[in-house]
Amino acid sequence: MARKKPEGYLSAKDSRRISRYNRKVTNALEKQHKRKHVPESEYLTQMKDPNNTVEFDNLHSYFFTDVGTVKAVDGVTFEVPTGKTVGVVGESGCGKSVTSLSLMQLLQRPQGQIVEGEIRVNMGDKAYDIAKMPLEKMQEIRGNYISMIFQEPMTALNPVFRIGDQVDEVIKLHDKENLSKHEIRERTLKMLDMVGIANTEGVYRMYPHELSGGMRQRVMIAMALACSPRIIIADEPTTALDVTIQAQVLDLLRNLKDKINSSIMFITHDLGVIAEMADYVVVMYAGRIVEKGTVEEIFAHPCHPYTIGLMASKPVVGKQVDKLYAIPGKVPNPVNMPNYCYFKDRCEMCVEGCSGDYPHEVSVSPTHKVSCYRYYDGKVGESNG
Ligand SMILES: Nc1ncnc2c1ncn2[C@@H]1O[C@H](COP(=O)(O)OP(=O)(O)OP(=O)(O)O)[C@@H](O)[C@H]1O
Ligand SMILES: [Mg+2]
Repeated sequence: MARKKPEGYLSAKDSRRISRYNRKVTNALEKQHKRKHVPESEYLTQMKDPNNTVEFDNLHSYFFTDVGTVKAVDGVTFEVPTGKTVGVVGESGCGKSVTSLSLMQLLQRPQGQIVEGEIRVNMGDKAYDIAKMPLEKMQEIRGNYISMIFQEPMTALNPVFRIGDQVDEVIKLHDKENLSKHEIRERTLKMLDMVGIANTEGVYRMYPHELSGGMRQRVMIAMALACSPRIIIADEPTTALDVTIQAQVLDLLRNLKDKINSSIMFITHDLGVIAEMADYVVVMYAGRIVEKGTVEEIFAHPCHPYTIGLMASKPVVGKQVDKLYAIPGKVPNPVNMPNYCYFKDRCEMCVEGCSGDYPHEVSVSPTHKVSCYRYYDGKVGESNG
């Protein structure tokens, strides 16, 4: 009797076929990236709306892995208006970090690649498409124009260099004014002071392990903001911190954003933080956006069953419940996505038509969009508002 193959089993032949395919695709894309002296016209583009700083347009970022292609981001479209904060929420593994890393061109290469779509960034007098930008040019923009606050400061800071040297280096690397060593040091101290570190001279000479978690996160923020970037990506910047420090860091980010007039793309799975920080919210599920709108719309009238579930699963002060709500089931396998709505198997609000193709986006208001069959023909579900 033949034994049943376990789920996800790959024969040696399948495995070889996948590797061959991956090599072919990634080699071609890598070659494209690494070209030198690419004319600017290749990645020059136009913003749809000049009031936006970033526009993601049908972005597809895939990982070509040994077990098949992981469609980590599969057709994501949203924008970050200038001077605003956009919150990106969704459960672990839904593609939030991959979306932000695509904007920095920091996907783990060669297996991670942007395969389709545009990421337009507004440079003031012109706009660039990050998806087509060669590595050479990207290095100029990264840090200077777009910068990122990483999730874990201990892994992002170098343990063998002093804090001051690490911040100095960032300033030196992006320096266009030919600053002297002394001026760079002054600027570093000013940055450390701006993020609320009291003993700046002392911290300048310290190593990362001599600081507390909150101070390290502040140093990370100082590094990210050292060159006054137009776009700050904050990937769960406060997850590792306790609530009082978290509140301080959020305040700090908000104030700094207004001071240097930049936009923030804020990634978190903490809905409380989103409510406090964001102007707009994008809800992702399994590599796609299921709902987006202003923060009021999403919190007061969540439309997608996934967002409704998220809202129901957050604790509310003063409301007594026996057990917090949890969305049943789990995310589909990213290598093998179904061809119907990705949330259908976990959804408790299915209507007729849900077994059809993946639902397209429906406008509930000019700013509020949802991808769900319940809103086709303007029909709105009961639990909405
Ligand atoms: N280097 C990689 N190689 C292969 N797959 C990857 C890689 N990095 C991410 N992925 C896959 O891409 C998908 C999206 O991952 P991502 O890191 O964007 O999740 P996330 O939404 O940021 O989750 P979290 O909230 O846990 O940070 C996941 O399915 C993950 O397994
Ligand atoms: Mg992440």
